[in-house]
Amino acid sequence: MTWKVLVSRSIPEEGIAMLREAGFKVDVNEEDRVLSKEELMKRVKDKDALLSLLTEQVDGELLSSNPDLKIVSNYAVGYDNIDVPAATRNRIVVTHTPGVLTEAVAEHTLTLMMAAARRIVEADTFVRAGKFKVWGPKLFLGQPIAGRTLGIVGLGRIGKAVARKAVNGLGMKVIYSHTREDKEFEKAYHARRVDLDMLLSEADVISLHVPFTDQTLHLIGKRELLAMKSSAILINTARGPIVEEAALVEALQEKRIFAAALDVFECEPKISCDSEAEVQLKDLDNVILTPHIASATTATRAKMAEMAAQSILDLAQGKTPENILNREALSP
Ligand code: GLV
Ligand code: GLV
Repeated sequence: MTWKVLVSRSIPEEGIAMLREAGFKVDVNEEDRVLSKEELMKRVKDKDALLSLLTEQVDGELLSSNPDLKIVSNYAVGYDNIDVPAATRNRIVVTHTPGVLTEAVAEHTLTLMMAAARRIVEADTFVRAGKFKVWGPKLFLGQPIAGRTLGIVGLGRIGKAVARKAVNGLGMKVIYSHTREDKEFEKAYHARRVDLDMLLSEADVISLHVPFTDQTLHLIGKRELLAMKSSAILINTARGPIVEEAALVEALQEKRIFAAALDVFECEPKISCDSEAEVQLKDLDNVILTPHIASATTATRAKMAEMAAQSILDLAQGKTPENILNREALSP
């Protein structure tokens, strides 16, 4: 069966090649920009499959606009950009790319943690500015990591990988908050499950690994920031809106916590929802900002492309894709 596939933005060639080799007609948006809603609707019109990125809002209107559309394969593990219930109602399968990016995201998380603890970006800027005049016993004092407590908010694949590396590689202790307890994990990593309030008050480093949903919007706001230790470091490699950015800016300005490191932003790609807060965030020395690159290694991005393409190939061949999010879409 020859399917028509829209790839909403250029992805690593490995995935495109798999679709073309299967004889599919692949329409790739080669421009390095996000298509507008109207453009996307128009271009998806006669397609059987949409390979979308997290930059595309795949909403109910788009999902009901094309009766030929059978699958939305999201090039990401997070799928908050897709209205999955609307897809199910339209009998459209939704898939994502879990697993292949777990190690890369965990590595970036720990990179940010170490960099924030030892003030690496601030120190680099200092040296480049010619300010390193003399060695000093109090120059750029940071936070230790060994023996410190890491609080993992959300114990999915990525949360677990961060915990494993932190315990085995860095000698940290782990506490976690999650909807279910995981006895096996607790035993393997001497970890303890606590509620969020306790995690915030006990952890030296707090790392967010929950998906973005109605329940996790502004999970970390003013009250939560106030509950943290003054030496605490907050890391967000999950989704921006999980942290109330305005409250974080205030906490960092008043040095109520030691530092934060953000790979994701509330109003991405803007680093703040309003321009005043953006200036404030950029002016702060105690925050590290990276442009949503936690899964950005060549190998991982290629594997994500292959996985996203494979889901489309599977469905076209009558198989249930491995990483399906809504099996109900397939039931008769
Ligand atoms: C990236 O943020 C992803 O969800 O894969
Ligand atoms: C993502 O892979 C998660 O489940 O944490």
